[in-house]
Amino acid sequence: MAAMAKKADIGLFGLGVMGSNLALNIAENGFSIAVYNRELGRIDDFLRDSGPLAGRILPARSLEELVAAIEPPRAIILMIPAGKPVDMQIAALTPLLAQGDVIVDGGNSDFRDTVRRVESLKGTGVTLIGMGVSGGEEGARRGPSMMAGGDLQAFARIEPVVMKIAAKARDGEPCAAWLGPDGAGHFVKTIHNGIEYADMQMIAEIYGVLRDGAGLEPAQIAGHFARWNEGPLESYLVEITAKVLKAVDADTGKPMVDIIQDRAGQKGTGVWSAIEAQRLGRPASGIEAAVGARVLSSLKAERIEAAKLFGEPRGAGLAPEILDDLERALFAGKVVAYAQGFSVMQAASDAFGWNLPLPTIAKIWRAGCIIRSRFLGDIADAFAGDPVPNLLVAPAFATLMREAHPALRRVVAAASLAELPVPALSAALGYFDTYRQSRGTADLIQGQRDFFGAHGFERIDREGPHHGKWGIDEQPVTPGSTTY
Ligand code: 6PG
Repeated sequence: MAAMAKKADIGLFGLGVMGSNLALNIAENGFSIAVYNRELGRIDDFLRDSGPLAGRILPARSLEELVAAIEPPRAIILMIPAGKPVDMQIAALTPLLAQGDVIVDGGNSDFRDTVRRVESLKGTGVTLIGMGVSGGEEGARRGPSMMAGGDLQAFARIEPVVMKIAAKARDGEPCAAWLGPDGAGHFVKTIHNGIEYADMQMIAEIYGVLRDGAGLEPAQIAGHFARWNEGPLESYLVEITAKVLKAVDADTGKPMVDIIQDRAGQKGTGVWSAIEAQRLGRPASGIEAAVGARVLSSLKAERIEAAKLFGEPRGAGLAPEILDDLERALFAGKVVAYAQGFSVMQAASDAFGWNLPLPTIAKIWRAGCIIRSRFLGDIADAFAGDPVPNLLVAPAFATLMREAHPALRRVVAAASLAELPVPALSAALGYFDTYRQSRGTADLIQGQRDFFGAHGFERIDREGPHHGKWGIDEQPVTPGSTTY
């Protein structure tokens, strides 16, 4: 136990799936780590399962022991459920810590909570880093993508560990970075998850078109996704989609996907990303549609009743040639969802004075995280060029969208006519068409607002606010006088 003669390089609290895998990753990278878990039995199991790495792991049986086991200035990573538990453990740890010590919240915390916690720790000498950790179990063990926010000097305390354990992109760069003060890291992780929702939903919609429109079996659909994973859509989510669709249930011999209930769960980050997008005045309709689709999926009993009333959308009459458009349509939808996510981050950066480095964010998402893909390298390049208000108008992406949006249009049209739901893809198309329309229809909205509320409007031919004289000589419109 020579490695244990000195104190541990870092501490970790919370040996759940993410926490234990992250601890093993840290140990494997040569750091000594003190670990603690509220349920003490879990610590023994963890030590037993950590094999040769146990030599670098120092078990602690109380918060006091955990703190005492770490080399000052201490860094303690919390890998515990977001919300109240984080407040409780920060409150319990802070009195035990000393000037310069750092608590790292590695959970999926609401960035507003992180901002509040950073503020409330001011004057204690202890600082909080809010760090989004993405990549699930495997990412935590083999190399996650990490998005940190908080005090830059405090981040320096954990930087060597974070950079060493992070996933590495193809060019060898670590997929982790300090992104800005207080809640910046958790905000970026929230938007990562929103994009993850949109990406997954659009993939699921294409699966629906192939299943219900083209009548293909899961294994056949898997073949399409596996092939698409060789091209511009190459990504972790497309890769695992092919694997999920290929898997067979050992009990029944049926495709796994066919025995899984079509009710999706969610833990909250998707909803937060949609709410923050609206709050910041940057609609993220692809993400919103994806969150909405998960909610609708959970209303299974209502859907069964509605299907009896209206009939099932079974995709009758789907033109076979539409299958050639699916890859490009998915790509176009994905570009729009990412454009929306980055636009929300730019708005947050401006609103909160974070100065978020968009190219760095795209770069640290290239590996390790759930939305990792080849295409994030192109996004990083696009944002590293001349400033653009939206990814859609960055030259390389404008070229891609010019090529791909007709396919998205044909797929959304064909799916709608065949009564197949494609809410996220059609939301993406609606956003694209609205964004590129130089004369929209908000002239009418402004007219309506001025009519009923004297809200005023701007004229195209004169400066200043104006009011309309709205048909005062005409018959008033009686509510209910129209037939539909
Ligand atoms: C990741 C994931 C991870 C997790 C979330 C979202 O980046 O590793 O986003 O954080 O999957 O819990 O999951 P829900 O689908 O349950 O909201």
